[in-house]
This record gives sequence, structure tokens and C-alpha cells, in this order.
Amino acid sequence: MRRSSYCGDVRISDVGKEFILCGWVHSRRDHGSIIFIDLRDREGIIQIVFQSKNEKTFKMAESLRVEYVISVRGLVRNRLEGTLNPNIPTGAIELVVLELNILNTSIKLPFEISNYIEISEELRLKYRYLDMRRPSFQKNFIIRHKILKEVRNFLIEEGFIEIETPFLTKSTPEGARDFLVPSRFHLGNFFALPQSPQLLKQILMIAGFDKYYQIARCFRDEDLRADRQLEFTQVDLEMSFVEEDDVMDVVERMLLRVFKIALNINLVVPFKRISYSDAILRYGSDKPDTRFGMEIVDFSCELKNSNFSKFSLAISKGGVIRGLCVPKGADFSRVQIETFIEFVEKYGAKGLSWMKIIDICGAESNIVKYFEEEDLKKIIFKLNANPGDLIIFIADKEKIVSQALGALRLKIGKKLGLVDKNRFNFLWVVDFPLMKWSEEGQRWKAFHHPFTSPKGVDSINKENINNIKSKAYDVVLNGTELGGGSIRIHRSDVQKKIFDILDLSNESSKEKFGFLFDALMYGAPPHGGIALGFDRLCALIAGEESIREVIAFPKIQRAIDPLLNAPSVVSDEQLKELNLSILTKELKN
Ligand code: AMO
Repeated sequence: MRRSSYCGDVRISDVGKEFILCGWVHSRRDHGSIIFIDLRDREGIIQIVFQSKNEKTFKMAESLRVEYVISVRGLVRNRLEGTLNPNIPTGAIELVVLELNILNTSIKLPFEISNYIEISEELRLKYRYLDMRRPSFQKNFIIRHKILKEVRNFLIEEGFIEIETPFLTKSTPEGARDFLVPSRFHLGNFFALPQSPQLLKQILMIAGFDKYYQIARCFRDEDLRADRQLEFTQVDLEMSFVEEDDVMDVVERMLLRVFKIALNINLVVPFKRISYSDAILRYGSDKPDTRFGMEIVDFSCELKNSNFSKFSLAISKGGVIRGLCVPKGADFSRVQIETFIEFVEKYGAKGLSWMKIIDICGAESNIVKYFEEEDLKKIIFKLNANPGDLIIFIADKEKIVSQALGALRLKIGKKLGLVDKNRFNFLWVVDFPLMKWSEEGQRWKAFHHPFTSPKGVDSINKENINNIKSKAYDVVLNGTELGGGSIRIHRSDVQKKIFDILDLSNESSKEKFGFLFDALMYGAPPHGGIALGFDRLCALIAGEESIREVIAFPKIQRAIDPLLNAPSVVSDEQLKELNLSILTKELKN
């Protein structure tokens, strides 16, 4: 029996026609003289009916259990009045089975597929082939496929050329931790898996390809999170003879197409732009979620001389005082406010201060007594607070205040249901600093990577580096960093200066990316690009909290793949061949 249609594709217009369908038994209901089966394949579910008058087939149908694989031949008919299911596209019809083939059986499942219940992620991933049979899950992969197709079509139409770069590359400093691959031909030497094709795509521009793209696999040995995997996919692109606006324009138009195809949503372009410093000040984050307000406001100037010692002390130590206003937050109990205090302590804050607004010039809390009425009025005015609102302050070092208030803003926003899940707020974050000072290493480090072009300066030196911005841009969607890129340095003299400031002009660094430095001396064109986290894009479009829901075989939090049981030990022969040995005895097994 050869399949004539997918189960999910049969429609009311097919009534009276004969079909051969194949799939899995999703569920079964045995009514004695009639058996109903929901038959499932990739495209959906259809109800099939076994009648006792067809004795041989009915007998076989009695033995069917969930997840058996079958093929059936039958006739499509209308369902009886009152038994229609408006929730599925095949809900008005059913297939009356004339012939049944049992293609395979299934043993008892570790969890139900038809009735989704919360089970541990480890179990789900161990039996990923069952987990992925869930229709909602398959939908995610069909969306992912559609998005990828649209991205490719768009970039090809725009004149981009797809070029693959290798997985076996070179360890480069400054990024995350590398995954290393030992070389059998050159014992003691290692390849590194690429953290991104960054340097090679720049080399492709120097080679004259003008517009490159790749759906690139990247590998980073980082701690896993909901939006972070050890290996992930980027839509990676690079263009020659462009400035920031050109790259941003291509990305906006690409996302416009993707959202139209995937969700039938018309995005508004160009996306809003915000400077990095503004984002940190107003949202306490370089990836602001702008779906709700509750913006952070600085009070360092207004309250620096206040009688409240926590505030004046923070300012005298070079810190800041910032606050935010929680609409209708005066209803929060003291116990709830205590949980906020515990929460901000995780970000290094030594607690928080709060006031409940009573009327337009009055507030209530144990700190109100330290403030003049004028100050209270200023606070209420600047935060646009209303009676019934709660104002929260933190005074400390700027980094602590912005991180703590930024995280608290998100937590309270979610708790109060202020985040509209149907909105897609895109934002460009621009004007990043070129470098940041590392207290730990006592040296300057690149804010993005060392190949990012400085913005609008002729001379760069250690004295002015603190004030220099870069030609970098991040695209943010609903509080997630979706992508990042920049215009690159294309002149070797500028690159050398940057390497000098970053202390990367030493021999070991030269050995690591000297090849790029050399290439810049052979007529490198001005160029720039960006990489979008493709898994993050798919998860946001599919409405999933974690990118693991749009990746077929992800690693779980403990950085393992429970299906393959990887990583695993390798044989002594394999190690010997690579001239490697495991130092710690207990780790050998
Ligand atoms: P960056 O390191 O910002 O830039 O990465 C670009 C985007 O890739 C996604 N991403 C990740 N997704 C899942 N798991 C991870 N561990 C992970 N790490 C990053 C994010 C991020 O915004 N070469 C530069 C790009 C460029 O300058 O062109 C780069 O890789 O969505």
C-alpha cells in the first residue's frame, strides 16, 4: 500500500474519495463495535474508524496500541453531527478503514506523546525521537525550516554568495573558551572549532567576494543557559564598501521578510536606535526589553545631599542613585518587597529603598522622613508616579545599580503581566565603547572583538581610548540579543594601534591572528557585517522560552547529550594515537 496523502492534508472536499494513509497511532478509543484511532503524521492528525462488520480488519485493529506504525486504505466521509472537532483542519471528516497493515509495534512509552505533561528535560532528550513526535514540537521545526528558506532566498536575491568556512580552525584569543581538536598528524597541536567565522569572512572580503553569507555552525565552550548552547547556528554575513546603515538596512529588510512569512506580521522599519549608554541608564541592560515602560531614572544630582546616609554615602564614593516606579506597586506586601531585596542582592546591591506613593506630593515608607517635601515632589515628578505606585531606589556603584535595577525591572514587569507576549520590539543598540578596562587583567579589552572599527577619530591612544566609541551595532528583540556586528578595521596601521593598546602585539598573539594582519596589508576593502543568532530568532518566533525547543539535538544544562550519552570516554588506543593521556585517574571512566 503506497501512501496517497499525508494524514493532516485530507479535507472535507475529499469526502467520498479513497485514500491510503501512513502514520503513528496517536490515541485509540474502543467502543466495542467501533474503534476510533487518531492517526498522526508530520502534517497532522486524522480520525480513522474501524467497523466490526469488516471482521478481519477490526480484529487486527483491536491489537493496535499507541505509537504502532500502520498504513490504512479507506474512504473519507463526513463525521456525524455533534462529533466534529473544530480545533483541527481534519475535524469535519474521518476515514472509514477498508484495509489495515501493521508496519511496526511499539513497547510501552516512557512518557505520553498525545497528552503533553511536564517531564524532566533529561528524559525528554534521552528519548528525543519520541519527544520530537509531539505535533507542537514538529511545528517548531517546520517554522525553522521556513525561516531558513526565506533567509537564504532573501540573501541570494540581494547578491550574497554562500561560502562555507572550515570547522577545523585555529584557536584565537579574546573570545569565549575554545573547543579543541587534537591533530593526529601534528602530535601536540590542536585545531579549534570556530566560535564564529569572523576572521575568515573578513579574509573573504579581502579576497574580493563583496557579499558573503553562511548559515554557520559556531562552537563556544560556555556555561549553558536558555538562550545559549555549546554549538549554535548563526546567519553570518559580511559586505564590502559599506557603512553601519547599509548592514542595518539589509538586516531590517531580511527580518521584515521573515516575520511576514513566519507570522504574517508587518514589522515597522527602520528599527528604533538607542545608544549603549542610554540603554544602560534607562533599562539597566544593553539588551533592553522595551515592551513595557518602568524605565530607570537617575537621581544622583537631585538626591546627592539628602539626609538619607545610604544615598549621600554612595555618591561620595563615586556611585549613583537610581530608581524606578512600579505602577500600582503600593499593593506589594512587605514580604514581597523582602523578596525583591533578596533578588537584587544577587547582583551585588546591598538592598534597596522604597516608597509607596499616597498622593501627588506624599509618600510612605521608613525612609520618607529623610527627605524634604521638595525632594519628594521632584522624585514623584521625575518618575511620573501616581498615587498607589511603588518607587524603588538603589544607590551603589553604577554597574551594580544598573544590573540590579535592570534585572528587577524585568522580574516585576513579568510578575505584573506588563510584558505583551504578542509584541515584537526590535531595537538597534549603537555607540558601544570600543574598549573596556579589565580590572582583573589590568589591561584594556575589546568591547566586541579587536577587529571592530573605532568611530570618528583620527588618533587613538591609551589616553583617549576610554572615550572612543565603536562602529558596532547589536540588534535586540524583546530583551534578547539577536545579533551583533560592526564595521571592521581595514587599515593595517589602525589595526596595529588597536593591537598595541590591547597588548596583542606580542609574539603569541601575532602567531594567532597574524594572518589577518598580513592580509590587511594587501589592499583590504572597507567592510563590515553582522551575525544573527538563528536559534534565538527561531525560538522568539515560535514563542519558546528556550532555544532547546528549536534545536533537534541540543545539550542539556549539564552540557551533555542524553540521547548519544556524549561526551564519553575514548579508548586508550585512541588517546595513544594522539599522544594524549588523562592525568586524573578517576576521570578515565
Ligand atoms: P556574537 O558573538 O555577538 O558575534 O554572536 C552573534 C550572535 O550569535 C548568537 N549567540 C549564541 N546563540 C546561542 N548560543 C550561544 N552560545 C551564542 N553565542 C552567541 C547571539 C549573538 O548575538 N563574529 C561576530 C559577529 C560579527 O561581528 O559579524 C559574532 O559572532 O544571538
